[in-house]
Amino acid sequence: MTQALADMRRDYTRDGLTEANAPAEPFELFTRWFEEALKTEQAPVEANAMTLATVDAEGRPHCRVLLLKALDTQGFTFFTNYESAKGRQMDANPFAAMTFFWPTLERQVRIEGRVSKVSHAESDAYFQVRPLGSRLGAWASPQSRVIADRAELEGLLKATEQRFSDTQPDCPEHWGGYRLVPERIEFWQGRSSRLHDRLNYRRSDQAWLRERLAP
Ligand SMILES: Cc1cc2nc3c(=O)[nH]c(=O)nc-3n(C[C@H](O)[C@H](O)[C@H](O)COP(=O)(O)O)c2cc1C
Repeated sequence: MTQALADMRRDYTRDGLTEANAPAEPFELFTRWFEEALKTEQAPVEANAMTLATVDAEGRPHCRVLLLKALDTQGFTFFTNYESAKGRQMDANPFAAMTFFWPTLERQVRIEGRVSKVSHAESDAYFQVRPLGSRLGAWASPQSRVIADRAELEGLLKATEQRFSDTQPDCPEHWGGYRLVPERIEFWQGRSSRLHDRLNYRRSDQAWLRERLAP
């Protein structure tokens, strides 16, 4: 199960977004992308894609889509750059929430709890099964930092490729997994006339309490 999740990935080659073809005004771009998504977004849906919400030191929330890469009784694991915006937010506030949405099944799952970094050995074990391009990218990209342009990123990648021309890239210290240990998991199943089913599991001491929530 965990191995199958670790192996789920897609290579994104469909399009680019350049300064030249992006409008100055964001609603226009959102509308354009949304309409394209409505036309094309039926399959393949990445079922392990979820939205991760974190809160920064000023109490402001941030969310973004990530891929779940491991799942066991300890919790839900994802991988990222520890120096990214989300990494700094989780350093300041170790609580996070993730939401999965599976539209074909009319289901949503909401998970909330405390996050902590997995061991470097665990991160390295996953890092080693990633494709070479992804491993080089983890070294090359200063995730969430402002860069001048696409050329700067490509230059960083080129320098990384040269650095690792004779050796396999190992897992950088600034990259790895976080495990969210859940304190609440809510399962939502869409039902007729908006009378949806919501079953909420809350951890109480060592046990889980189950309760039904109004839709
Ligand atoms: C489908 C999809 C999957 C993604 N998976 C990951 C992931 O597993 N890890 C990651 O760091 N970023 C992933 N991203 C990019 C993040 O959404 C985000 O742009 C990046 O992590 C920087 O976020 P931050 O600046 O809030 O730290 C993914 C984006 C999409 C749309």
